[in-house]
Amino acid sequence: MTTTISPPARDVLTECVRTATAAPSLQNSQPWQFRIRGSRIDVYADPSCHLPVLDPDGREHLISVGAAVFTLRLAIRRSGYRSDHVLFPDAGRPDLVARVTATGPSPVAPATEALAAAIPHRHTNRWPFAQTTVPVAVLDHLREAARREGALLAATGPAGRDAVLRLARRADHQVRARPGYREELRRWTATGPRPDGVPRWAAGPQDSWDALPIREFAEPGGGPHPSDRFEPYPTILVLATRGDQPSDWVRAGQALQRVLLTATWHGLATMPISQPIEEPSVRRLLLDPASGLTAQMLVRVGYGRTVGRTPRRPLAEVLLSTGRRRPT
Ligand SMILES: Cc1cc2nc3c(=O)[nH]c(=O)nc-3n(C[C@H](O)[C@H](O)[C@H](O)COP(=O)(O)O)c2cc1C
Repeated sequence: MTTTISPPARDVLTECVRTATAAPSLQNSQPWQFRIRGSRIDVYADPSCHLPVLDPDGREHLISVGAAVFTLRLAIRRSGYRSDHVLFPDAGRPDLVARVTATGPSPVAPATEALAAAIPHRHTNRWPFAQTTVPVAVLDHLREAARREGALLAATGPAGRDAVLRLARRADHQVRARPGYREELRRWTATGPRPDGVPRWAAGPQDSWDALPIREFAEPGGGPHPSDRFEPYPTILVLATRGDQPSDWVRAGQALQRVLLTATWHGLATMPISQPIEEPSVRRLLLDPASGLTAQMLVRVGYGRTVGRTPRRPLAEVLLSTGRRRPT
């Protein structure tokens, strides 16, 4: 007897794409596009959303797309299908980052349900956190989340944390001094109603102790940034991969989103920190070269206030119709 497996309805996959757009991205640039063909979804990097000053190599661009790929895979699994994925399936199309296929019906595991339920609650939190220790068992769970996506996550101890934060501050100052930095920052700080960029309300205060490199956003009229006291002993995690090629960046993005969602599920607030990775001279110092690992992102986790949801581009802008041509 042969069994015919019917692919998910297009509406189901469209909803999965909508869910994927909740992923985090550098300065809320949302550099992704999707195309549904049958039971398969192609995920593209959108070059019009690249930030050349912060991210000249396109590494964070692909980390952001990777975060959307993980969210898409999770949404497909939560819809009751297995999902397979291949990174860069067409060597001639480097903008085609992933091909995700819904392969067949599958019962939804409780862990999938729990992780997927965290998607709408994950937000970047740039406000002070409570000085409450994150339990070791929770950190272990975050490490496991990164490992499941082919990456490694290390929690810094007190000495390591101080050193990493010193490096991160140095990087922050260096990044801010780059030519074109101010213009790019203004381009991605949302001052009015728009579907991308970081709205002013989502920008937190600067750390009055100047310990944490809180990402700055443009202030109206170029005025000073408000400041506040942040937790004196933040929990800082370092996400790393073994390689540093485009496919490693996409993998890092998938791992980042899995870690962030797992943290959200545990009731933690999260804030990615990427300035130290944006500055090559600092990035090299974050991990022992003997480890063979490359740092891809820092993440601050802790117990924080509730923050709101940043806007997303409408589905019509990111979901390509089957016949619409994309520039190669
Ligand atoms: C590659 C990458 C780098 C990021 N770097 C930082 C950062 O250095 N500081 C920060 O506050 N947020 C950072 N973020 C978070 C984004 O600003 C955030 O995801 C985006 O504004 C959308 O908001 P949301 O996370 O609340 O959905 C980063 C996110 C990604 C994916």
